[in-house]
Amino acid sequence: MSDLSLTLCSLTGILAIALIIFLFKRKQQRLNLPPGKMGWPFLGETIGYLKPHSAITVGEFMEKHIARNGKIYKSKLFGEPAIVSADAGLNRFILQNEGKLFECSYPRSIGGILGKWSMLVLVGDMHRDMRIISLNFLSHPRLRTHLLKDVEKHTLLVLSSWKENCIFSAQDEAKKFTFNFMANHIMSMDPGNVETEQLKEEYVTFMKGVVSAPINLPGFAYGKALKSRSTILKFIEGKMEERIKKVTEGNESLEEDDLLNRVCKHSNLSTEQILDLILSLLFAGHETSSVAIALAIYFLPGCPRAIEQLREEHSEIARAKKQAGEVELTWDDYKRMEFTHCVVNETLRLGNVVRFLHRKAIKDVRYKGYDIPCGWKVLPVIAAVHLDPSLFDQPQHFNPWRWLQNSSSNRGGSSAGCPSTSTSTASMGNNFMPFGGGPRLCAGSELAKMEMAVFIHHLVLNYHWELADTDEPFAYPFVDFPKGLPIRIQRRRFT
Ligand code: HEM
Ligand SMILES: *[C@@H]1O[C@H](CO)[C@@H](O)[C@H](O)[C@H]1NC(C)=O
Ligand SMILES: *[C@@H]1O[C@H](CO)[C@@H](O)[C@H](O)[C@H]1NC(C)=O
Ligand SMILES: *[C@@H]1O[C@H](CO)[C@@H](O)[C@H](O)[C@H]1NC(C)=O
Ligand SMILES: *[C@@H]1O[C@H](CO)[C@@H](O)[C@H](O)[C@H]1NC(C)=O
Repeated sequence: MSDLSLTLCSLTGILAIALIIFLFKRKQQRLNLPPGKMGWPFLGETIGYLKPHSAITVGEFMEKHIARNGKIYKSKLFGEPAIVSADAGLNRFILQNEGKLFECSYPRSIGGILGKWSMLVLVGDMHRDMRIISLNFLSHPRLRTHLLKDVEKHTLLVLSSWKENCIFSAQDEAKKFTFNFMANHIMSMDPGNVETEQLKEEYVTFMKGVVSAPINLPGFAYGKALKSRSTILKFIEGKMEERIKKVTEGNESLEEDDLLNRVCKHSNLSTEQILDLILSLLFAGHETSSVAIALAIYFLPGCPRAIEQLREEHSEIARAKKQAGEVELTWDDYKRMEFTHCVVNETLRLGNVVRFLHRKAIKDVRYKGYDIPCGWKVLPVIAAVHLDPSLFDQPQHFNPWRWLQNSSSNRGGSSAGCPSTSTSTASMGNNFMPFGGGPRLCAGSELAKMEMAVFIHHLVLNYHWELADTDEPFAYPFVDFPKGLPIRIQRRRFT
């Protein structure tokens, strides 16, 4: 081989590379990417994007980027080029085209901690199978019969332990309620029992790791959480073995109607799959709705008219039950909580328990003249839509009356500091997606709303409460009260 052919070889190589770069550049130029800067190499703008901010705002980063670029912009986040969307239409478009143009795509570290069989990271058929199991477990008929009764039982258990004139963390109490309920329904664990308490503690550590996971900096939280994960899995596995032992001993009549039994008996999931499913349902089902309840406890004292109207609604229900000689709340009672449903929606809209979702484009997509290249990360920011002043009148105001179906019965006077609004409820509903949407719509949305309503029912009937210290919800991006939302309560008698 001569030097010449070697030179020729490298020359063609260089030419080929030049051609590729040229074509790539041309393609990029032809693409009409949304405006925005990519920031630093690797990290991009991730740190700015995740900077903690008041949960009832979109944060400084979003504000500045939207002001500069509009509601759709590009950036580099979580190590990848990304399109960020604060646009209601694009968000709906992304969620509705799940599996066709976009796909769920959480950072690898989230998969590491929730498990590779967690519903949050699965796509395709496997996701569908797991989703069907969860939906059956949380189905409407079960909600009416089993779940409502137990939600009430666990609410009363927590509320009855509250002591007058001491200060305690409302957030912890809400967590206690949702955790006890979920652990009971998933694995028939009893509240207050030693192993339930241990599992709850383990979940706190686990949660901290999930929160830190998106950046996965070499901190302790993520590593500790991985350890927690294996402790929790071992625990669930122990529960599974207990069940299997019972079945082989022929003691079927003793079996509980919980999720663990259903998946063990009626599905062909592997042990590993069952463990991840149970772990992530326990997680999805208690971290979110407890924050939502804490948010309601936080927002309501700022709007005394709303508490008053809630008390009217719930006293009415309680009186009717007393007359009928009923004790437990029924489905009809729940359906009668009209104003409460407005409070629930307003709490979810303003508090934004889940701020944004992780997706990626699986095809080249064009939307409103912008190109979204295949493979790019896509982040629908649902919180930004809920706080968009062009879609919700005075979005920073807690105003449950904006949800009243019937504007003629609008009773929230502006005089009460909770101004009424003229935005139509139909268009609000369209832009309101606290539970995501499309084929991955939250499987527990109906349960979560019921938990909030039932908790509010007994809270407003039995207690007066006030915030004992200044505290406010922050988006870390996971919503949390830095001081745990300390409150002080007083018992009240209702007639
Ligand atoms: C206020 C409380 C809650 C909020 C704000 C909430 C929000 C969400 C959101 C936004 C998603 C979609 C994630 C995505 O598309 O990437 C989701 C999914 C999910 N949620 Fe919830 N959630 C709540 C309560 C619950 C409860 C109580 C459960 C019950 C166990 C639950 C179970 C699930 C499950 C299983 C999924 C995955 C659905 C799928 O991938 O098909 N959630 N949730
Ligand atoms: C079922 O469980 C009960 C109580 O634990 C026990 O007394 C009984 O012998 C068991 N029956 C069978 C068939 O194992
Ligand atoms: C479970 O069984 C069904 C058929 O009953 C089959 O299609 C599916 O692939 C199985 N799933 C797993 C995870 O083995
Ligand atoms: C609350 O929001 C849901 C959409 O998630 C909507 O269907 C429902 O009508 C709203 N409730 C009220 C009282 O406006
Ligand atoms: C709407 O308001 C009118 C008048 O206040 C009332 O008669 C009607 O029952 C209301 N409808 C609903 C669905 O609330």
